[in-house]
Amino acid sequence: MNLPPGFAQRVTRWQQAHGRRHLPWQGTHDPYRVWLSEIMLQQTQVVTVLGYYARFLARFPDVQALAAATLADVLALWSGLGYYSRARNLHRCAREVVSRHAGRFPASALALAGLPGIGRSTAGAIAAFCFGERTPILDANVRRVLTRVLGFDADLAKAANERQLWEWAEQLLPPAGRERDMPAYTQGLMDLGATVCLARNPACERCPLMDICAARLAGNPERYPVRTRKVARRGEDWWLLLQIDAGGRCWLAPRPSRGIWAGLHCPPVYTQREALDMALQGAHAETWPSFTHVLTHRELRLHPLLLRTETPKGEGAWFGSDQWQALGLPAPLRKLLQQLRIN
Ligand code: ADE
Repeated sequence: MNLPPGFAQRVTRWQQAHGRRHLPWQGTHDPYRVWLSEIMLQQTQVVTVLGYYARFLARFPDVQALAAATLADVLALWSGLGYYSRARNLHRCAREVVSRHAGRFPASALALAGLPGIGRSTAGAIAAFCFGERTPILDANVRRVLTRVLGFDADLAKAANERQLWEWAEQLLPPAGRERDMPAYTQGLMDLGATVCLARNPACERCPLMDICAARLAGNPERYPVRTRKVARRGEDWWLLLQIDAGGRCWLAPRPSRGIWAGLHCPPVYTQREALDMALQGAHAETWPSFTHVLTHRELRLHPLLLRTETPKGEGAWFGSDQWQALGLPAPLRKLLQQLRIN
């Protein structure tokens, strides 16, 4: 493979002129702040992250504060961002940094990648932003940029091809001696993937790599990246028994610490219609419209039912609306409860 000349310099200069700047986590080299932003930005857009990031920092200004918090507090603040394993790992990671690294994040990508929830690409991003380390990143956006520029059409579902792309990502870095370019270069790759090199209808005319991009020169950027394996999502039916008492309180319990929505508060869940009917013992529950909620490995068909009762079924405790709003709740449940309050 002939790697295109001038790649890193183009990306760096483009970032400095056209990339996203002045985001709250960009003006700092504090690994705690950069780490927090990178975890939140996985699978979540910048506009959504801004508010959560500010609330997190206000509540947990440093890694010691986060490590001292309970998991329930962390999940409550995370509520609505989704992918809750990120929040659980965030909490575990903070505790590990405090207990095993004297409260200081390790200062290399390799060591960072040994911490909970920090994969190779996130470790690379933190090390590049905070320490100017010459180390690559390869998240979904950057994979798209690189496979297109290089015209690399091998199947990334195969580990060997993914490894090959990491090697090229390393060779494309700014040269040794240009470590000061690493933050802008790294951010530039992310910005290109998020704002120019889009999965559909990429804006090639705005791209600083347009004249060295193999996919653009061949006229088929949308063909990349190639990945055969589709995520297999198992479908599941969940009946959610929302129980409300005369005072408008809702019956909720924390989910088990493993599995879907681990640690978040939920009403009793039944995965079989028959089990629900048995629990109801003839009581009349109002059925609400069913809807689908997509998770990474599951497609949940949620069937909410509303039961007004003073003698609730299943494990739980009563929470008034001022109380449940402060709990960690799955996003679809929070929406349901908000609708309930209006009706
Ligand atoms: N996505 C992941 N990391 C990011 C960052 N630092 N800025 C913007 N989007 C991102």
